[in-house]
Amino acid sequence: MIFIYVIIIMVIIMKKTIVDFDFKDKTVVLRCDLNVPVKNGKIIDDSKIVKSLKSINYIVSNGGKVVILSHFGKIKSESDFVNNSLDVVYKRLRELVSFDISFCSSLDFDVVKNSVFDVSYGNGILLENTRFYDIPNKLESDCSDILSMFYASLGDIFINDAFGTIHRGHASNCGVANYLDSGIGFLIIDEISNLSILDNPDRPFVVIMGGAKLSDKLGVISSLIEKVDYLLVGGAMSYTFLKAKGYNIGRCLYEDDYVSYCSLMLDKYGDKIVLPIDLYGSSEYSNDSLKRHVFVDLIDNDFIGLDLGDETISLFTSYLKDAKTIFWNGPVGVYEFSNYIEGSKKLLDFIGNIDAVSILGGGDLVSCANVLSCSSSFTYVSTGGGATLEYIVNKDLPGLVNIGEKDYE
Ligand code: 3PG
Repeated sequence: MIFIYVIIIMVIIMKKTIVDFDFKDKTVVLRCDLNVPVKNGKIIDDSKIVKSLKSINYIVSNGGKVVILSHFGKIKSESDFVNNSLDVVYKRLRELVSFDISFCSSLDFDVVKNSVFDVSYGNGILLENTRFYDIPNKLESDCSDILSMFYASLGDIFINDAFGTIHRGHASNCGVANYLDSGIGFLIIDEISNLSILDNPDRPFVVIMGGAKLSDKLGVISSLIEKVDYLLVGGAMSYTFLKAKGYNIGRCLYEDDYVSYCSLMLDKYGDKIVLPIDLYGSSEYSNDSLKRHVFVDLIDNDFIGLDLGDETISLFTSYLKDAKTIFWNGPVGVYEFSNYIEGSKKLLDFIGNIDAVSILGGGDLVSCANVLSCSSSFTYVSTGGGATLEYIVNKDLPGLVNIGEKDYE
């Protein structure tokens, strides 16, 4: 185990890190993941902002000017500009830092340049949502040289601290590193060193996969299944597996295109994959319509699954109780509905109270744990969603590949 840690730390050390730079009178382009959940205009979980403060404050307290970049939400069309300005994040950030920070809402290159120029060393600026540059020409998501060079032109050094987008090859986290001396920030270092536990986990190693979309996680599931002792499947993705087993799943959300994939997985790894045996749900996708309990072999045509049933929770905990390492991604029910948060809550409570290394990942699950105020009971809570899943099966991710290597002269 110690050997593995040494290897991981060596890999990190191969890349330059934030502590390898002198920031005095330097302008530092810092990519953060400030993509926090917002409801009715209010941030419901600011943990990604809080975890980004270490790098932000380090740059500023060492005499640098920090230019913060982040994406916020998915931007597919101009209508997505509404409600996806980073202004809401700026307001929270301003409360959390003790230096002067401004916000530039313009996307015009000259205006942005002048706004950055106006900031003095020891202070900072947050720029508008990097994905706004996706309209109309996908400059950010297609990693355009024009945008990458523009971001690079704003500073002297680039630090990537956005673990949540480490799996994306975008201009603001990957392209920009082609044009500036670069390193990784404290949050990425922390993520990499904690997630390295999963490279050689103490066994039994049990993974819980939840969340809505199986299709987003196929690659990871195919790779993880080889490593795990048990894979417990909850949330909407379990309905595609149940369909593959031949159950009537009523009106439960499932992905028809992936039923055959699930059948293959069940044929090959049926002894490792544990599926729900009962569910809570309703005939509406709603918190308020009548809540019903069914066993999976008795699902009627009208039923929509919204949470795991009590028998399934007992089944899952029977696997978890002896686990030495647990990784969990995605809630096992519709946690946004107060009547269907119970399954996720019971599992969080159980895992938080056993003697196992426990790592949570995935924006929704982490928000769920934060909403329930139980995040501190786990060994590590990752800020990444898809990024965490991708990182545990593939270390050569776009947000890392262009980062400068250490110079050992
Ligand atoms: C996340 O919330 O998982 C990250 O901010 C990445 O967001 P994305 O999936 O929209 O790239």
